[in-house]
Amino acid sequence: MILVTGGLGFIGSHTVVALQEKGHQVLIVDDLSNSSVEVLDGIETASGIRPTFIELNLQNSTAVSDMFQHYSITGIIHFAAFKAVGESVQKPVAYYQNNLGSMLNLLAEVEKAASPIPFIFSSSCTVYGEATELPINENAPVQPAMSPYGNTKQIGEEILIDTVNAIDGFRVIALRYFNPIGAHPSIAIGELPLGKPQNLVPFITQTAAGLYPKLTVFGNDYPTSDGTNVRDYIHVVDLAEAHVVALERILESRSTEAYEVFNLGTGKGSSVLEVIQSFERVSGQKLSYDIGARREGDVIAAYADTTKANTVLGWKTKRSLDEAIASAWKWEQKVRKLL
Ligand code: UD1
Repeated sequence: MILVTGGLGFIGSHTVVALQEKGHQVLIVDDLSNSSVEVLDGIETASGIRPTFIELNLQNSTAVSDMFQHYSITGIIHFAAFKAVGESVQKPVAYYQNNLGSMLNLLAEVEKAASPIPFIFSSSCTVYGEATELPINENAPVQPAMSPYGNTKQIGEEILIDTVNAIDGFRVIALRYFNPIGAHPSIAIGELPLGKPQNLVPFITQTAAGLYPKLTVFGNDYPTSDGTNVRDYIHVVDLAEAHVVALERILESRSTEAYEVFNLGTGKGSSVLEVIQSFERVSGQKLSYDIGARREGDVIAAYADTTKANTVLGWKTKRSLDEAIASAWKWEQKVRKLL
């Protein structure tokens, strides 16, 4: 069975469906701290298969141990983590405890296992900070983290490197995501941010759904084509598929190094205004927005060099920005019962 931690979350749930579509049996662990048990129904609708689910906080080492005793776990995809940048600044201890404690408990089980269990780690392009060269490839230097959240991803990667060096045959792939957006084409699963969304696309769709009067664009005086920040927005289904490819790479002994890193993006940068235009194009409606001050901690531009993911991992994105935004908008309308 493939253990997917945080499997009821946004990227986790889409990855569960992608795994099931490729014939993998899935065990989801989630503590429901930022997700809901109804996502299981969504997964079942999307894939036709209901995965096994355990409600568990991975900081509980005894329960984690019991789970590894009870199930035959042949691969781990580890998503479970807190992810709000601003909140991490207010609650650093909780972020380090949860994000690192959970991973350490999983690695303690890997250490005990008779044969090493393949491990896929959910990392982030945030490790590159403000990169000096664009597009960003995997050799770009990791910069000092700008938040405890970002630091948990960097330290997580370091812990994995040390563990790979200590356990013979242990193979890990760290996936550094750019900006995941969108929803499954079935519209049975999607992004469900708690409270006011911090990320651009859910804020756009919630504004269009009437939850907020307008979107504020955080700065238009950056040195980019139209003055707004540039990001690499990747359809969550493309991203989910990359996890399956990465897992199968280890399962089929195709890794060329024990610890590998891949950037996951489309390779194309889009400005905030281009994302708004995409929304207006696919929804056929105008979005109300104004221009505000810069948001602290935002990098000017970040988009992926996809060469390594395309050639070494053998994966590339198939879906466009418009498709991703259209699916996010359909999902929002479903959630708000506007469809
Ligand atoms: C953010 C996090 C990043 C994290 C990622 C996870 C920050 C500074 N960065 O990335 O560490 O890994 O989410 O998903 O929080 N924007 C607006 N108005 C809004 C919201 C966003 O103009 O109301 C702009 C932002 O300034 C940015 C772009 O939209 O230029 C994308 O923002 P967002 O979706 O929050 O992603 P990141 O900042 O790239």
